[in-house]
Amino acid sequence: MKPSPHIKALVLCGGKGTRLRPVTNTRPKHLLPIANRPILFYVLDYIALAGITEVGIVISPGAGDEIRKAVGDGSRWGMTVDYITQLEAKGLAQAVSCARGFLGESSFLLFLGDNLIQGGVAGFVAEFASHRPDALIMLKEVADPRAFGVAQLDGRGRVTKLVEKPKQSLSNLALIGAYIFSPLIHQAIEGLEPSWRGELEITDAIQRLVITGGRVSSHILQGWWVDTGKKEDLLWANRVALDEFLCARMAGSVGGTSVCNKVDIGHNAHIQNSQLQGPVCIAEDCTIRNSVVGPYVSIGAGTCIEDSQLEDSVVMEGCHIHGVGPISSSIISRNCRVTGDGPQAPACLFMGDDTELSLTS
Ligand code: G1P
Repeated sequence: MKPSPHIKALVLCGGKGTRLRPVTNTRPKHLLPIANRPILFYVLDYIALAGITEVGIVISPGAGDEIRKAVGDGSRWGMTVDYITQLEAKGLAQAVSCARGFLGESSFLLFLGDNLIQGGVAGFVAEFASHRPDALIMLKEVADPRAFGVAQLDGRGRVTKLVEKPKQSLSNLALIGAYIFSPLIHQAIEGLEPSWRGELEITDAIQRLVITGGRVSSHILQGWWVDTGKKEDLLWANRVALDEFLCARMAGSVGGTSVCNKVDIGHNAHIQNSQLQGPVCIAEDCTIRNSVVGPYVSIGAGTCIEDSQLEDSVVMEGCHIHGVGPISSSIISRNCRVTGDGPQAPACLFMGDDTELSLTS
């Protein structure tokens, strides 16, 4: 039996999150909270559960400090974290070459820091360790593969061809941002030409591996996968995280309030005269009065909600929401003030930090 390979992980957090502006104007996409935890923390949980302890995080010069501050040295996950700065976001393959010093001659899991995968990556890592291909890629059947890297397989699940954002149908199997490579990938990246979008595509590097006789295997994900690139995806991720990861807790005080389904109420949160329809996650120091909250709402620390109605939404830290609703499918970033004079027409909001909004009936 071959010895188990030493596997590191490389998490990419370099993208700008332009499709989530204005929320990402002031916070890196990877730190946006779902069920009150940064997306990146779920990714690091997956990696820790897969038994990987050496992790590199690729950051952009602008957003890097916040990510360093949030994750620290990785000891919370029992791992060491190295930070690698990618000066310009010029593609996934370019991010890998920036991390060449960190990766050395190790095999590595490459994971996009804003993707969530049902069941994590422990099984995926174990599959690589037992079969030792040159690359193992995670795929998922999607309705419209044109927005992704796409792979074609032979009857045994071996990859025969890959194309990034194909114009013509190749298959409905999309690459979903989790890959494991042997060090052979570095040769395939050297000499890559930028794609039509000016990026060094990891999909093209894997295609080079295939052409040069490398053994590229696939793992088809049956469960859900969320790429949190847009508002709707972030809301979906919040629902998924509330369904799958929320632990019921009652650390605050609740009076005159009906509670159904799972709720997590943080320390020093005060809920009065309200209805909580779980799953709902309320962080510490929140106040909720005379309001109907949920299902699928996450509320960040120190937020106050009064005389309002809210469902399927992410409200971040330090907000004040008074006299508004019904609000649904909304993302309200830090320190926003949303006020109104009673029930209004239903509203879907998407607000960056420090915004004030007044709604009238
Ligand atoms: C990137 C990859 C693509 C993959 C996708 C998954 O695309 O290039 O192959 O299918 O991530 O989210 P991008 O998000 O850069 O368009």
